Amino acid sequence: MKTTGGSDDQKRRAGERAADLVEDGDVVGLGTGSTAAHAIRAIGRAVAEGLDVRGVPTSFDSRALAREAEIPLRSLDEVDGVDLAIDGADQLDDDFQAIKGGGAAHAREKVVDAAADRFVVVADPSKTVETLSRAVPIEVLPEARAAVERDLVALGGDPTLRRAERKDGPVVTDNGNLVLDCEFGAIGEPRSLATSLSETPGVVEHGLFVDLVDAVYVGTDDGVDIRRRE
Ligand code: A5P
Repeated sequence: MKTTGGSDDQKRRAGERAADLVEDGDVVGLGTGSTAAHAIRAIGRAVAEGLDVRGVPTSFDSRALAREAEIPLRSLDEVDGVDLAIDGADQLDDDFQAIKGGGAAHAREKVVDAAADRFVVVADPSKTVETLSRAVPIEVLPEARAAVERDLVALGGDPTLRRAERKDGPVVTDNGNLVLDCEFGAIGEPRSLATSLSETPGVVEHGLFVDLVDAVYVGTDDGVDIRRRE
């Protein structure tokens, strides 16, 4: 699993507190990354104590971790809906907009997180910003890479193909696609950028999560700051 800013204790506090939201009978979206992993482990401990839930994983890694934690799993098309999704983020602004995809899992994450009645982001303080500014991960069909790169430049972006570590060549997502990390500088209008990215042929999914987050749990050195969208 990739490592990110913030301490493991901060991430654990956020993940464990969000896991307390899970209720008997819930279908829970299981996010990806080092912070969501703490929530998955906590849900697993609750399952061992008798909690009845079904988890919908958002990636190869979250499925493996949930299996290890012995959480009963379902795919999204096997459930009628998702009560709650708990997932991490790479950046979060004051308006509850987020950038995800640091682990290249954002396409499945978005499908599951958007299907949830309630989507809770778990994070450490290094993720919170006034204005989104991180490079936006964009999953693209391999055949469309060059065309998408041209379109992103026309949108004012500066795309870079994400390269694998400990393997020559690019990152290949769980869906068999490539990832472009696209710098846009400060993202003043996440909604309109998200619309433009979604309209670009060859883009499978982008990492701007706009108007999806219902609450943010930020683990700190001595507790958890909770913010809920009105
Ligand atoms: C996976 O692709 C991402 O969207 C993660 O959810 C995000 O990178 C957060 O990960 P950490 O909790 O490890 O920072």
